[in-house]
Formats: sequence, C-alpha cells, structure tokens
Amino acid sequence: FDAASSPRRTLAGRTVLVTAGPTQEPIDPVRYLGNRSSGKMGFALAAEAARRGARTLLVAGPVTLPTPAGVERQDVRTALEMEAAVHLHAPGADLIVMAAAVADFRPAAYADEKIKRHQGTPEIALIANPDILASLPQFAPRALRVGFAAESTLAATEAARKLAAKGAHLLVANDISRGDIGFGAEQNEVTIFSPTAPPETLSRRPKAAIASALFDRFEAALADFLVLRE
Ligand code: CTP
Repeated sequence: FDAASSPRRTLAGRTVLVTAGPTQEPIDPVRYLGNRSSGKMGFALAAEAARRGARTLLVAGPVTLPTPAGVERQDVRTALEMEAAVHLHAPGADLIVMAAAVADFRPAAYADEKIKRHQGTPEIALIANPDILASLPQFAPRALRVGFAAESTLAATEAARKLAAKGAHLLVANDISRGDIGFGAEQNEVTIFSPTAPPETLSRRPKAAIASALFDRFEAALADFLVLRE
C-alpha cells in the first residue's frame, strides 16, 4: 500500500476548478504578449485535487504539460478565453484555485497580417483585461476562492488589501524573483494569507509537495466555509 499515491478521498463529491499557466495576448498572427509561467504549480494542484477524489476541472493556458490523471482539461490561449471557460465552470465549483498568470493587459488592436519591419517601429497600445478572480464573487458566490500572487515581497497589509479587492478567501504568494522557486522551477516556497489567521510559510519543497500541503489548508478552510455557507 502506497499512501502517497492513494490518499484518502477527502474531496469526493466536491468539484474543484483550477487555472494554470500563462495567457498569450496576440499582436499579429505570429507575435504575442506572454509571461514566463510554466503551469507546473497549477498542474500539480489539479493533480492533487483529483487524487483526493474531487471532480477536477483544469483551465490551462498554453503550456507543454501532460494532463494529470483524472483531470478534465480545457485549453485556452487568451485571458478573455480563460475568463469564458472559468465563468462556464465556476458556478458548479466548491473550490476555485486561480493559479494562472493571467495577462493584465492585451494589445488594443490585433493586426490580421504580420506587422512588417518596413512599416516602421510599431507602437502597441494596451488595454486592460478583465480580472477573472475579482469577478468570482458574482459568478461563484458559494465557492471557496483562492488567489495567487507573484511578488518578490508581500507585506501582510498588502495581502489583506488584495484579498479584499478580489473578494478572495485565501491568497498564496510566492517570490518569482528567486531562481530556485516559482516560474519554471521544480520547487516552490509559498506563504498563505487569510483574513482570519497569521501568514503561514510552506518551506521550499517540490511543487507536488507544496500542492499537497496547500490542499490540506484548502480542505480545512473549505470545512469552515461549508459550515458558514450551509
Ligand atoms: N488574476 C485574474 N485575472 C487577471 C489578473 C490576475 O484572475 N486579469 C488572478 C490570478 O490568477 C491570480 C491573482 O489574480 O490568482 C493575481 O493577482 P494580481 O494581483 O493581479 O497579480 P500580481 O501580478 O501578483 O499583482 P499586481 O497587481 O501587483 O500586478
């Protein structure tokens, strides 16, 4: 019996929605604005939710990762596509984990033809993308909502401000300025912020182990939350 591969199915009967990876915001048919998110942390979280028996929906930006066992995956490219997929699935979710690095801005205009060098140096105007996490209190008022923050340092007061601004219940912060954790790395170190408890740091370990430790916290928060909600 391998306890690591056969955890207790503590999320049986629950639906968990996870977003992962970057978004790509097209400029022309060959160019886009993107970011360095690898999707590894979000995929590890989806794998962990499925291992715990949840119906697990994964909305993935453009990444080259295999779908974890037992996970239902929908691939998207842009923030607007991610928003539509999340809004489709959010109303049925008990827990939503927004691990994706959603682009905050997209090019205001898309050029149907490749922009040519001889046309001169283009000026690319940007417009704001919708904040998907901040829209969730409206689309999924009954779900426990978890945000992620990519910050080199995050003061507890700033975390509290973000939680309130986005209507989220938990915020998981990691330091993307470090090479050994965060974007693209195999390991992560995170701090969990909640309005009701002091910040808790999960020391550096493989992303699968971070995912497992995070789900222990999510399950505890979900248990409290379900009591309040029902
Ligand atoms: N998020 C989102 N929609 C966006 C931008 C971000 O849903 N358009 C979500 C991310 O999935 C993540 C959290 O919001 O859960 C990150 O929030 P944000 O504070 O925007 O990201 P940072 O880049 O960490 O912060 P900053 O405001 O300083 O840019």
